[in-house]
Amino acid sequence: MAIELAPLPLPASADASKFANFGREVVGLHPGKLTPEQLKEVQEALYKYDALLFRNVVVTPEDQYALTKSFDPQSESYGHGNNKTESTKKSILHPDLKTIPRVPQVQLIGNGTVYNHEGLAEAKLKHPSHTTFHKTRVPPEDDLKATRFYRWHIDAALYDLNPPKVTTLYGLKVPQGDTQTCRYDDGTGDELTVPLGTTAFVSGRTMFDILPKEYQSLAVRSKVRYAPHPYVWMAPARAMSTGLGIESEGLELPLDELPPWEEAKVKVFPITWKNPVTGALHFQVHPCGVKELLVDPLPEGADRDGALYPDGAHITDLKQVREILYKMQRPAIAPDLVYPHDWQENDFVLFHNRGVLHSVVGAFSPDQVRAFHQCNLAASDEPTGPNVDDVKKYA
Ligand SMILES: [Fe+2]
Repeated sequence: MAIELAPLPLPASADASKFANFGREVVGLHPGKLTPEQLKEVQEALYKYDALLFRNVVVTPEDQYALTKSFDPQSESYGHGNNKTESTKKSILHPDLKTIPRVPQVQLIGNGTVYNHEGLAEAKLKHPSHTTFHKTRVPPEDDLKATRFYRWHIDAALYDLNPPKVTTLYGLKVPQGDTQTCRYDDGTGDELTVPLGTTAFVSGRTMFDILPKEYQSLAVRSKVRYAPHPYVWMAPARAMSTGLGIESEGLELPLDELPPWEEAKVKVFPITWKNPVTGALHFQVHPCGVKELLVDPLPEGADRDGALYPDGAHITDLKQVREILYKMQRPAIAPDLVYPHDWQENDFVLFHNRGVLHSVVGAFSPDQVRAFHQCNLAASDEPTGPNVDDVKKYA
C-alpha cells in the first residue's frame, strides 16, 4: 500500500505556486517503524519533495540514526565527524553542538539548560543568534520581537568529508511564543513573519529555476572551491544581514594560520547538484565557506550572445566571488519563497540536504528551553553535478 502524503501547511507569505513540489507530511507512520516497502517510498518522496514531516511521533536517537543512515548505508560518522567539535575549538560550530553519548551521530541542539537527557547529566544549550555572527544586528530594543536568518547553509564539513544526503531534525521541547519578524535589513524592505524558533528552508531547485538564462548557464558551468577548514577560516569574519554569506572585509584567517590541512582534502563541488530521483538541478552552495569560483568555457556551438565568462574563468578575488554567488542566491530567499517550519513537539523533519538550503531563525530568552535532536552523516560519495545534456540545455 502506498504511503499517504499531505501538503505541508504553508504560511500566508508563501507563493503556493512555487511550493507545489516542496514538502509533504507523511501521514500516520512512525519514522522508526517503517516496513522495507514504506521506507523505499519515503526515500523516493524525500528526493521528490525535499522535506518530509512526521507529526506526533516519539523517536529514539537509535531510530533517528537508523533512518538517516538508510539513505546512505555506507555512511557512518556525523556530518562534521564524530566528536570532532571538541578538537576544533576555534570553529564557529563548536558551541552549537552536544553529542548524545550513546549515539554519537546524533546531536542535541537547542536553548536553555536540559537535565538528565539521554545520558547527558546537564547540557547548557544556546540557540545561535545573529547578534554574534552578523556584522550588524537588530537594535537591542527590538530583541525577541525582530530577528534575522542566522546563516543559510547546507549541513556539511566542506573539508575532507562529503555533504550528507539527508538531515533529520526532531523537536522534543518546543517553547511556544509570539511570532517574530525576520528582517532582511538589506535595503529591500523585505521581511517575513516567522513562528518562534522556526527552521527556514528554501528549495535549491527553485533557486536554479528562477535564475535568468545567463546565470543558469554560469551555474551549470561552474564549480566552487571551499576554503580549507572553512568554519575556522571564516570565524573572525562577519556575516551579511540576510545570513546569506560573509561580508568581504578581509577578516578571514590566513591559510597558514589554519589547523594543518592538505590540498587533497579541500572540496571543489559543482554549483548545481543533480537530484537522483527527479533529475532536477539544485543550486547547492554554502556561501560562507566558498573561496574561489571555477567556470568552464561555453560548450561548442553554444550561443555566446550575452553569455557570462564565455571562455571560462578562475575567479580568486573573494569579494567578486561572493558578489556573483549572492546575485544568484539572493532571489531564492525572497519572503514568498521561504518555508518557515512551525515546530510542534514531537515533529520529526527529514530534509534533502543536497536539495535545500536552511537557516536557524529567531531569538530566545535564556529561560526558554528548546531541545532538538539533529542527525546527518558524512556521505559515502560526492554530489553529482549536471550531466552533458544538462550543460547543453542550459549553457
Ligand atoms: Fe543545519
